[in-house]
Amino acid sequence: MSQLFRRKNYSETDTSTHLLRVLGVWDIVFFGIAAIIGAGSFSSLGEAVFRGGPGVILLYMICGFACGFTALCYAEFASRIPAAGSAYTYAYASFGELIAWVIGWALIMEYSFGNIYVAFSWSDYFTSFLGRLGMHIPDYLTCSYTEAKKAFMSGSENRELINAWKTAPLMGSLKFIVDIPALVINGLITWLCYIGVKESKNFNNSLVILKLAVIILVILIGFSYINTDNWTPVSVETGIPSFMPNGFAGVMSAVSGVFFAYIGFDALSVLSEETKDPQKTLPKGMIISLVLCTVIYIALTLVLTGMVDYRKFDGVGDPLSFIFEKSNANVAWMELTVSFVAIVAITTVLLVFQMGQPRIWYAMSRDGLMPQKFQEVHPKYKTPAFATIITGVVVGLPILFTDKSFILDFTSIGTIFAFVLVCAGVLLLPAKEKIKGRFHLPYINGKIIFPIIFIGGLVAFYFWEPSFFQNLMEWNDPKEGEFRASIFFFILINLAICILAFIKNLSLIPLIGLSSCLYLLTGMSHENWFWFGIWFSIGLVIYFSYGYRNSKLSKS
Ligand code: ALA
Repeated sequence: MSQLFRRKNYSETDTSTHLLRVLGVWDIVFFGIAAIIGAGSFSSLGEAVFRGGPGVILLYMICGFACGFTALCYAEFASRIPAAGSAYTYAYASFGELIAWVIGWALIMEYSFGNIYVAFSWSDYFTSFLGRLGMHIPDYLTCSYTEAKKAFMSGSENRELINAWKTAPLMGSLKFIVDIPALVINGLITWLCYIGVKESKNFNNSLVILKLAVIILVILIGFSYINTDNWTPVSVETGIPSFMPNGFAGVMSAVSGVFFAYIGFDALSVLSEETKDPQKTLPKGMIISLVLCTVIYIALTLVLTGMVDYRKFDGVGDPLSFIFEKSNANVAWMELTVSFVAIVAITTVLLVFQMGQPRIWYAMSRDGLMPQKFQEVHPKYKTPAFATIITGVVVGLPILFTDKSFILDFTSIGTIFAFVLVCAGVLLLPAKEKIKGRFHLPYINGKIIFPIIFIGGLVAFYFWEPSFFQNLMEWNDPKEGEFRASIFFFILINLAICILAFIKNLSLIPLIGLSSCLYLLTGMSHENWFWFGIWFSIGLVIYFSYGYRNSKLSKS
């Protein structure tokens, strides 16, 4: 048993470079915006708005809050383990092999599967950009099979998807529907990673400015087209105008799309060794960048849902240019500008994720948990060549048989799960001496405060919405049942955490991070959990049949 939790020792000598401390608060903020804003704001915002309506703004606030606390936990990890790396590396040193493997396995969902979604989004903007230039690719070559089928079966109003289904040529008894641009961009990005494209700081900085500029333009121009009646569409249940037309359960069902827009902030933690006075600068920079992104997302949601009825966003992958289409605001130059900038911005997200995945595999292979082949470095390009190609395949194949919303849910559930482990992990770290120049999470005893916040929150919610608690055990309701069941388990787990916090004097910040990430998981459907369970089980089978035996630690 103890073998499952064997830990890797990283010594100070593992710190690969002695990095210069040059980064200030605004550098961190800039880096944060570069890592966070991408396909989430340009694309998944549409899906989120469709599911939750204007009320999705609340979810952006909840996610921003959860991510802020999780970011601080990441920073704590990063400052404790001298080796540069991801949550996988930190977990290996702190909690041992099995948890490290589980996190490494979950990170595949963040990086590779995340990139499938990003590739689909890239394709949406690319095709609409070409369309605006008068070049039309047949619809059945620009979307995925399952997406077109789902749209047709559910009677969606999305013209492109329905048209794709109706016009696709037959291959035997199967309709030929493939997202070609998504496949091509994945091939190109894999090739760039293979030959070792160099990141250029200046180029990155100009891109951040470009994407921020276009988002601000969308907000400014969009505001003048808002019809405030759209903010209170008629509720599906009650027939009364409401900010949350599908109820709060509808808002929570948008969690994948919303959370996806925040992924990337975890990359900030690795900057702790390069930050001036990291104790103050790092948390400030992280929190400012998350607050800025939250404000941007809220403004974008107000614009989108104010300009166009939220129901029209069904299956729309390019919402920021869609709102300026002829059938909506009809501002042709904005449509064109937004699609062009989105293509460039999303390409950089693809690159970052596609470079991240092979490096995690590389680290896992070095530890013996993945086959040696994953460490193979290309003799000329000096890149992890094999791992890069496998990443290309892992991203490329599912493009053929999955669809955007499935992948979005899958990515988000895996990433939130990894974050839950990171926050829980920080709670288990032993107390430490303060080292000058390192980031330390401030310790606030959560013994009393956490139970007060949680139980107080429950009581306040009870008085606000007593009917929710009265129906909490009714899980058969097709719309709300899943959400109620999840909330029930959320409450049980949190009560257990309250007891642990009380007994063990647990630290407040990671407790809040843990609890808020667990809350985000309540928005996941049973179907999401089912697929996640399968994925998780496959991971365990691989670990026990390969990693456990071949681990470097089993030989030492
Ligand atoms: N947050 C990143 C994006 O939106 C993943 O593209």
